[in-house]
Amino acid sequence: MDKMNIRKAAMIGCGFVGASSAFALMQSGIFSEMVMIDADHAKAEGEAMDLSHGLPFARPVKIYDGDYDDIVDAGIIIITAGANQKPDETRLDLIHKNVEIYKQIIPEIAKRGCEGILLIVSNPVDILTYTALKLSGFPEHRVIGSGTVLDTARLKYLIGEHLGVDNRSVHAFIIGEHGDSELAAWSNANISGVRLSDFCEMRGHFMHEESENRIYEKVRNSAYEIIERKHATYYGIAMAVKRICECIIRNEQSILPVSSMMHGIYGMKDIVISMPAIVGKDGVENVIPISLDEEEKMQLKRSADILTGMKEMIKK
Ligand code: LAC
Repeated sequence: MDKMNIRKAAMIGCGFVGASSAFALMQSGIFSEMVMIDADHAKAEGEAMDLSHGLPFARPVKIYDGDYDDIVDAGIIIITAGANQKPDETRLDLIHKNVEIYKQIIPEIAKRGCEGILLIVSNPVDILTYTALKLSGFPEHRVIGSGTVLDTARLKYLIGEHLGVDNRSVHAFIIGEHGDSELAAWSNANISGVRLSDFCEMRGHFMHEESENRIYEKVRNSAYEIIERKHATYYGIAMAVKRICECIIRNEQSILPVSSMMHGIYGMKDIVISMPAIVGKDGVENVIPISLDEEEKMQLKRSADILTGMKEMIKK
């Protein structure tokens, strides 16, 4: 088998999210090769051509359309294929359609003995990451989902806007399902080490619960709000994909709230859900048991129970 090329990415799915993710990755310079794969070969070819024509303005990366034989040596295989949410759909509504699509895609990857990391992006991402893990037989650390990396970015952005600070100085997580049951871990949110509530008061905000609820609702409903206006979301998730790939390719060992298999943290076992985890060259190294208050623990259990119920459904 070809030796793995860590600087090679395979993009399976060339719709809005796949194409935008490829565009973001092309700008990042972390890959030297990117193969675009889609059931609609013409689409994959068109995206590869369009991206390649921008290369004189970017750093060298070989971008081409291909098929499953081209992914064997990829360091990261990114899967965005599948139906996306319509205005009145939840991410969980996509479960049957997209699990069936994954039942076609994952065996094509597994039978070629790929040694790269599977990065699942399609929704419902937690369930599809679990599905990919089970169908591929890959080691658990090598099958991760984009999880609540984007939701956490939305939370940081909105807190930054609320407080008038650089959102990169905001440390807070959205955890749980990437979906309606996600939760904000407010109890350990901080601005460069200053407790969030203390920093809010420094900036003249004292209605903490009201602000937290307003910001949380905005985060949780972001996708619906965007889809209602432009019929899909793709730039935010593409930047989240880029962030996760950077972390893997550079072996950053940064802590990101990706979807990964749980082994008992907060009582969660045999489900894939988003918790902060150390991410490096081998995928997920460790899940971090961030401190949660009793209300947050209850919300996390509720989210886990919803995903457990969904997992049982796809087994039927
Ligand atoms: C969103 C999609 C990626 O949250 O689920 O925008």
